[in-house]
Amino acid sequence: MVAKVPPEPFRIKMVEPVRVPDGDERERALEAARFNMFGLRAADVYIDLLTDSGTGAMSKQQWAAIMMGDEAYAGADSFFSLKKAVKEVLGFDYAIPVHQGRAAENVVFGSLVKEGDVIPFNMPFDTTRGHIFNAKASSVDCVIDEAFDRTNQHPFKGNVDIAKLEKAIAEYGKARIPFIMVTITNNSGGGQPVSLANLREVSAVGKKHGIPLLLDAARMAENAWFIKRREKECAQMSIAEILKATMDTADAITVSCKKDPLVNIGGLVACRTEEMYYKIVPRVILFEGFATYGGLAGRDLEALAVGLHEMTDEQHLTHRISQVRYLGDLLEEGGVPCIQPIGGHAVFIDAAAFLPHIPQGSYPADVLSVEIYREGAIRGIGLGALAFENVDEKTGKRTFPKLELFRLAINRRTYTNSHIEYVAESIVNVYKRRDSIRWGLEMVYEPPVKGLKHFLAHLKPVSL
Ligand code: F0G
Repeated sequence: MVAKVPPEPFRIKMVEPVRVPDGDERERALEAARFNMFGLRAADVYIDLLTDSGTGAMSKQQWAAIMMGDEAYAGADSFFSLKKAVKEVLGFDYAIPVHQGRAAENVVFGSLVKEGDVIPFNMPFDTTRGHIFNAKASSVDCVIDEAFDRTNQHPFKGNVDIAKLEKAIAEYGKARIPFIMVTITNNSGGGQPVSLANLREVSAVGKKHGIPLLLDAARMAENAWFIKRREKECAQMSIAEILKATMDTADAITVSCKKDPLVNIGGLVACRTEEMYYKIVPRVILFEGFATYGGLAGRDLEALAVGLHEMTDEQHLTHRISQVRYLGDLLEEGGVPCIQPIGGHAVFIDAAAFLPHIPQGSYPADVLSVEIYREGAIRGIGLGALAFENVDEKTGKRTFPKLELFRLAINRRTYTNSHIEYVAESIVNVYKRRDSIRWGLEMVYEPPVKGLKHFLAHLKPVSL
């Protein structure tokens, strides 16, 4: 059944005109983009669901705070606004601003991880995995098996399997495990939440072995909303209380503030001890800027300080997550196979089930992204073989990821429910003509960067 979305807890004060390119324009745009969604000009897209990162609308309070930016190089007031918000909302004493999430990964992994280390995760996001490789370390996925079962309705499909975690610790040993890390919500597994009970268990396992727990907390507020709705013990708590309790399980966090904290640019590392702070800060100075601005302008720090408070507003979260769910429900109603339950920030279509006649080596998720753009000038992103395949350097043998997904990420406070209905209708139209989609994609330029192919690859359609 399609659940209703509550009315928007905001009204629109300024509009950004968007236009719908016609069919010929779309074809020309696809050619120019080399059939890679990252190559499209945003002006050629009507509804842009490529990512929910940095694409949301700021509030009038955030815009007003921008005028208060203190641009001093060191010790600016704006840093102290951020530090105060981090303490109030998240409970950490040490806050290090950086320019975005992967910068937080760079300074943390570059400072705390050594060659040969292993980091147990539920699942890392792709830039996170990239930074682990960059530090000559590796990660072990310990997410529960239900995560890979598209129709399984487990309420917390991002949870860590404690037996897998214990096994990883036994296998690699404490000396090679600088920390355990959990992504909330689990973006790579469909934006699925992690329960508070599970985080507490993971934290207890870490404590038992003397291994810290870090969170990739980009979507921590959405995760808290799911906990409130799905974890009985937390039903009476406020989002702010759940968020604090979530943070209490962790020794440190990395955050892409372009997601839940509602800013267009910004990232954060927060930790509890002076010791960890001083380990991380030299690399911040090397790559980001002085420790009190970390590559951001003072005005960005002010907008972020306000966004950290705003993200805990339950009405905002209920509207947002219901809107994502609305899109998922409309698609499911039209027969389109989606990852269930619908996650917090995006709808993930099972491209392998949508286009079962296209072999995974011909990149079905990316074929789908082209067809959906053709249909409605809508941009989403393939997260399948093109993004995650492994090619053996010696034998050339390709191994494919378990999931072949196509993601529609919803921008925060940006699109109306009619936009969402338009997206669903367009995709259902593609679904109706799926049998006639008899072509695949071939890579004609492969960038020489491991794990980042899908951003830069040039592709060519080939008939099957
Ligand atoms: N961690 C998670 C869970 C993410 O989803 C992202 C980014 C990052 C870290 C890196 O943050 O982009 O600020 O450097 N995810 C975006 C996405 C890009 O589209 O899902 P960043």
